[in-house]
Amino acid sequence: MLENLTPQPADKILALMAAYREDPRSEKVDLGVGVYKDATGNTPVMRAVKEAERLILADQNTKAYTGLAGDPAFGDAMRKLVLAESVPAERVAAVATPGGTGAIRQALELIKIASPKATIWLSNPTWPNHPSIIKYLGMKMAEYRYFDSETRGVDFAGMLADLDKVAEGDIVLLHGCCHNPTGANLTLDQINQVITLMQKKRAIPLVDIAYQGFGDGLDADAQVTRHIASSFDNCLIAASCSKNFGVYRERTGILMAVAKDADQKAVTQQNLAYLNRQNFSFPPDHGARVVTTILNDPELRADWEAELEDVRNGMLDLRQQLADELRRLTNSDRFDFLADHRGMFSRLGTTPDKVEKLRAEHGIYMVGDSRMNIAGLNAETVPVLAKAIVAAGV
Ligand code: LMR
Repeated sequence: MLENLTPQPADKILALMAAYREDPRSEKVDLGVGVYKDATGNTPVMRAVKEAERLILADQNTKAYTGLAGDPAFGDAMRKLVLAESVPAERVAAVATPGGTGAIRQALELIKIASPKATIWLSNPTWPNHPSIIKYLGMKMAEYRYFDSETRGVDFAGMLADLDKVAEGDIVLLHGCCHNPTGANLTLDQINQVITLMQKKRAIPLVDIAYQGFGDGLDADAQVTRHIASSFDNCLIAASCSKNFGVYRERTGILMAVAKDADQKAVTQQNLAYLNRQNFSFPPDHGARVVTTILNDPELRADWEAELEDVRNGMLDLRQQLADELRRLTNSDRFDFLADHRGMFSRLGTTPDKVEKLRAEHGIYMVGDSRMNIAGLNAETVPVLAKAIVAAGV
């Protein structure tokens, strides 16, 4: 049997991680995988996470199964964090999933059951695992224009023109905030136009929100998702806790499905639990319990929010430093977009051969489409990167 196997396509981001590890150069700079790093290159366990873990260790007296949907308290806490009061709880079905990727996977599986012929529309570009999972599941997909490689902002006219081709019942995948891989985001006015168009087309939104708190703040980053959730009868939201709680390896995420009413919610909830059972049975609990403990304890929550704000402001500083340095070196405002982008990533908007040059000649690792993880920089490496960008002729 196993002789029938052939190698699967490598994930671009994970392949880059491996290449970076193998590079013996000490001055190498990792701007690859989307993991937050502090100025020393460490990905810390957040203070509130440590404290919540201590409390859980002291108090927990069973490791028996939770429910198939995970602990309902996690679902409730995450619904409030992401959706606030935008939709009534009676309309929101939710299941805990192994990370945000698990939530995306379950969302797609749900679509496959409910609407097998739907086409999933993805921004061009998007997180490479989106099309990869859709292809793996044998579902239909299409792309809408998103990134303007001249301005490095959103090609909004192109986006609207492409979304005009969406058919009734199609799914449009939107990034809730901090677009991955570009860092270019829609304004609230633009998202309202997208909502109006999608309502006219009777399309259904699937929102991927993996970086809440990394862009303009916890509430500001949820605005687009909340607007969308309150504007449609049905909507799917995949949220990740990996980044904003720094619990990457705990695999903590949630899929929320906004239903038309309480009856529809009940059957959706049952389907989501069924899907968890088929795919992995009970979802991981530890990370979810940590998140719930933090969100429901005012002191821990305040400390988590404060640390998250520091992380966010640190990335904004790095963006500004890099834009300033490039302004100085090039005597132009060509790279000012770096300070306007939000979240962990910015797409530099250069060619794969220049990305390769940056890696080979300067030890700078970014994804081949020129996505940089801004959190991989520090005050020392910002000038190094700026110089290399200029030397490589970006
Ligand atoms: C990324 O885009 O780098 C992160 O979401 C990590 C991953 O799993 O790809």
